[in-house]
Amino acid sequence: MRIIAIANQKGGVGKTTTAVNLSTALAATRKRVLLMDLDAQGNTTSHMMQKSLFSFNSYTLLTLQSSLFESIQTTFVPNLFLLPASSDLAALDLELAHMPEREKRLKQAFSNFSLEKNKPRYDYVLIDCPPSLGVATLNALVTAEAVLIPLQCEFFALEGLAQLLRIVQRVKRNFNLQLNILGIVLTMFDTRNTLCRQVVQDVENHFHDTLFKTKIPRNVRISEAPSHGQPVLLYDVRCSGSLAYINLAKEFLEREAQL
Ligand SMILES: Nc1ncnc2c1ncn2[C@@H]1O[C@H](COP(=O)(O)OP(=O)(O)OP(=O)(O)O)[C@@H](O)[C@H]1O
Ligand SMILES: [Mg+2]
Repeated sequence: MRIIAIANQKGGVGKTTTAVNLSTALAATRKRVLLMDLDAQGNTTSHMMQKSLFSFNSYTLLTLQSSLFESIQTTFVPNLFLLPASSDLAALDLELAHMPEREKRLKQAFSNFSLEKNKPRYDYVLIDCPPSLGVATLNALVTAEAVLIPLQCEFFALEGLAQLLRIVQRVKRNFNLQLNILGIVLTMFDTRNTLCRQVVQDVENHFHDTLFKTKIPRNVRISEAPSHGQPVLLYDVRCSGSLAYINLAKEFLEREAQL
């Protein structure tokens, strides 16, 4: 089982879209995937199911009211499972502020899970992080073996990226020596936009092979899909956005195979 955090503290850069659609594309290749929603906004959750249907979620998990085993839900996508979010996560930083080892709760949940009898097997766990560097993201980074960073092609993207990379290094040093950057994926890419092309050039110069070759284009079908409660791969499998996420999944699996 490989655990991958999809993180960027900047809002609206395509974390959730990438988490949902990369998971779906991986599940389509018969990998068993657990998608975890750690964001109080619950966008990944509403992509995949009606929110009111369950009582256990990532908030009850991180506040020790439920185990991972009992909090996982099936979804309408074969091989894709979900740990839903709850809006209660908005208070998590405050609630856990003075708790010892609060950054290790997700890691502990996985340790407990590994001891369960008759537990399901997952090939990949993808964690959709909130747009902050608070306790939920910290838990994801402490637990994950790798970080995938969606980066929107825009002017301030690189400043946020430098901060995120510093945090990843700090978490690696202090809590999680195995943590690595799996890659940076450019999202909402628009070839006609000069600034976009400039950002791509900068990122390529700085990060070389860390950057995934697959770029996710700006595509209206991607933005329509959530309102239909579907990953774009189910909503319109032939659109450019779906093809890009299928290619990203291929490249993802190639990188994983090289480890
Ligand atoms: N490639 C794309 N083309 C068009 N629209 C996109 C694309 N990727 C994401 N979007 C849209 O941009 C918005 C932000 O995307 P998304 O929710 O995935 O970002 P996020 O990083 O998870 O945001 P947050 O930080 O709030 O959690 C959404 O409305 C989404 O539908
Ligand atoms: Mg999101």
